[in-house]
Amino acid sequence: MQEVRRSLPIFPYREDLLRAITEHQILVIEGETGSGKTTQIPQYLMEDGYTKGGMKIGCTQPRRVAAMSVAARVAEETSVKLGNEVGYSIRFEDCTSERTVLKYMTDGMLLREFLTEPDLASYSVVIIDEAHERTLHTDILFGLIKDIARFRSDLKVLVASATLDTERFSCFFDDAPVFRIPGRRFPVDIFYTKIHVTQSPGDILVFLTGQEEIETCCELLQERCRRLGSKIAELVILPIYANLPSDMQAKIFSPTPPGARKVVVATNIAETSLTIDGIIYVIDPGFCKQKSYNARTGMESLIVTPCSRASANQRAGRAGRVAAGKCFRLYTAWAFKHEMEETTVPEIQRTNLGNVVLLLKSLGINDLIHFDFMDPPPHETLVLALEQLYALGALNHLGELTKLGRRMAELPVDPMLSKMILASEQYKCSEEILSIAAMLSVNNSIFYRPKDKVVHADNARMNFTVPGGDHLVLLNVYNQWVESGFSTQWCYENFIQFRSMRRARDVRDQLEGLMERIEVEVVSAQDDCVPIRKAITAGYFYHTARLSKGGYKTVKHQQTVYVHPNSCLFEEQPRWLIYHELVFTTKEFMRQVIEIDSGWLLEVAPHYYKSKELEDSSSKKMPRKQGKSKDELG
Ligand code: CDP
Ligand code: MG
Repeated sequence: MQEVRRSLPIFPYREDLLRAITEHQILVIEGETGSGKTTQIPQYLMEDGYTKGGMKIGCTQPRRVAAMSVAARVAEETSVKLGNEVGYSIRFEDCTSERTVLKYMTDGMLLREFLTEPDLASYSVVIIDEAHERTLHTDILFGLIKDIARFRSDLKVLVASATLDTERFSCFFDDAPVFRIPGRRFPVDIFYTKIHVTQSPGDILVFLTGQEEIETCCELLQERCRRLGSKIAELVILPIYANLPSDMQAKIFSPTPPGARKVVVATNIAETSLTIDGIIYVIDPGFCKQKSYNARTGMESLIVTPCSRASANQRAGRAGRVAAGKCFRLYTAWAFKHEMEETTVPEIQRTNLGNVVLLLKSLGINDLIHFDFMDPPPHETLVLALEQLYALGALNHLGELTKLGRRMAELPVDPMLSKMILASEQYKCSEEILSIAAMLSVNNSIFYRPKDKVVHADNARMNFTVPGGDHLVLLNVYNQWVESGFSTQWCYENFIQFRSMRRARDVRDQLEGLMERIEVEVVSAQDDCVPIRKAITAGYFYHTARLSKGGYKTVKHQQTVYVHPNSCLFEEQPRWLIYHELVFTTKEFMRQVIEIDSGWLLEVAPHYYKSKELEDSSSKKMPRKQGKSKDELG
C-alpha cells in the first residue's frame, strides 16, 4: 500500500506542496481526478505536524459516499481503525472520536460546525475538496472560511479541485496561488453514438442518472449475461449510487477476477468524487439528474437534463487513468457542440435556500444580500427563502431570528421538517412526529418491490394502509417494526428494506437526542392522529393542494399537481392535501401526502393564509368527505 502511495501523481510534489502550504495561508490545488489529492494531502499534513497537540485537519466532500469511502481508505493506509485517528462525519452518522485528528466530512457538516465553533478554532487546516462541484454548501463555506481566515492567521485553507475553474477560486480568495499537480493522462478516443461490442480487456464505467435507472440497467445486464452463458467472458456487474449500502459500495473497488470484465454502473458520483482503478471504457449517455428551483412558485424538482460539456469531458477522462481508453458517447458530436452547456450552473442558483439562510442568520450574518458569494443566488430565491422563514415563524418582520428560529436551526434538517418537529411539542405528539420525520428522511427506499414478486410486495404494502395519509402509513410501518423487536425476519416477510429501517432508527435516535437541547418533551398522542396531522400541517402548510374540477392545484400558485400512484390516497382523492415533496417524472407528482382540514391552515399559519382563499368555491358541486372545514372557518 505504501508503494501504491508513492506511485500516485501527487507524490513527487509532496515537498513542494508542503512548502507552498507553509508559505501561503490559502492555496488552490488543482489536479486530475485520481492524482491523490483527497487521500494523500491530509496524510502529508499529518506527517508534517499539522495535527500536533490534537489540532484537526478537516476535509470536506460534497457527497456522503465519498466522505465514507476516502476515510476508510486513509484509515487503511495509515493502519488505524476507522473512527479513531481518522474518521468521518456525515449527517446522522458520526464516525469520529476524541482521538480523531483527520476528519472527512460532508460540506454540510462543516457548515453546521460553525454553529458550535464559529472560528473553527480546533482546526489547523481546512480542505474544501471537490470545489469544482460547486454545491450549495461548498459555496457557502467559501464565504465563511474566507471571512474567518482573515482573523485566524494560523488557519491553513486548501481549496482542492479537479481541473476546472481553478482561476475563479484563486480570484475569489484574493488571488491565492494555484498549485498544479500535472496529471498522468492517457489518450481517450471518443466515439459518438456507435457502440462497439468486441473490445480488448479493461473495465467499463457507465454513467446513468439515478438509483432506479441503475438498478434496471444492472438487472437487464444480468439477464443478458445469463442468456449468453459461457458464450461471453464473465461480466461483474456493480452498481454505485449514494443510497447504496456501504458494504455494496465497497465492492466497486475490489480487483476484477482474471479473465472477467467489471462493469460499474454509476451516477455522476464517479465523475470526480470516486476513482475506480482499471477503467478503460466509459459509456456516457450524456444525462444527469439535476435539482431545479422555481423561485416564483417555490417548487423544487429533480429533472433529468443533458449534462454539461465540462461533465462530459470529466467522464471521458475516467477512461484514461491507467492506459489509453475509449469513451462511447451516446449522443452526436453536434449535440455535444450545440446542445450542451459549457459548465453546470452552481447549485446555489437552482435550489431552495431556506436551510442555508436559517443557518447564516443563526451565525449572526444578517445582511445576506451582501454576503461574499462567489456567484450570488438569484435575488428572488433569497427573498423567497426569507419569506418562507418568516411564514414559518423563524424570522420576525424585521428579518431577525426568533426564538423559534434559533431552535429550528439546532436541528440538522430542512426548515419545514424542523418546524414540524417543534410543532409536535404544542400538539403533544413528538413520539410519533419523530418517527415520521425519521421515516421521511429515508422514505424512498422503505418498500421493497422485487420484479418477480410484485403482487406479494404490493399486498404486503397494502396491509400497512391506515386512514389519513402516507405519513401515517410510514408511522405504522415503523411502530410495527418496533413491536417486532426491530426484527430482520419481520422486514423480510413484509417486503420492507431492513437497511432503510435501521437507518430510520438511527436518524430517530439522533433527533430524539437533540430534543433535550431544544427543550421538547417527548410524549405520545396515543391513538389520536389529528394532532399528528396538525403538527405536519404546521411545518408544511406551504405545500397545500386543493382538489378542484380538473384535479389538484396548489393553493398559492394554482399549479396543477398529481397524487403519486404509490400513495395510499391515490384513489381516495380528499379535498385538501399536504404533500411532503414534489417530484417531476412524467408530470408533477406529490410524494407522501396527508389529508388535512383546511381550517387547520388558519390555526397553524394565520399570517400566511386568509380564510377567503381557503373557501371551497366548488363545494356545492362536489360531495364532501369531511364537512367540517367550512364551519371551522367561521
Ligand atoms: O482526490 P483525487 O481524485 O486526486 O485522488 P484520491 O481520491 O486521493 O485517489 C488516489 C488513489 O487512491 C486512486 O488511485 C484511487 O484508486 C485510490 N483509492 C482507492 O483505492 N480507494 C478509495 N476508497 C479511494 C481512493
Ligand atoms: Mg478527490
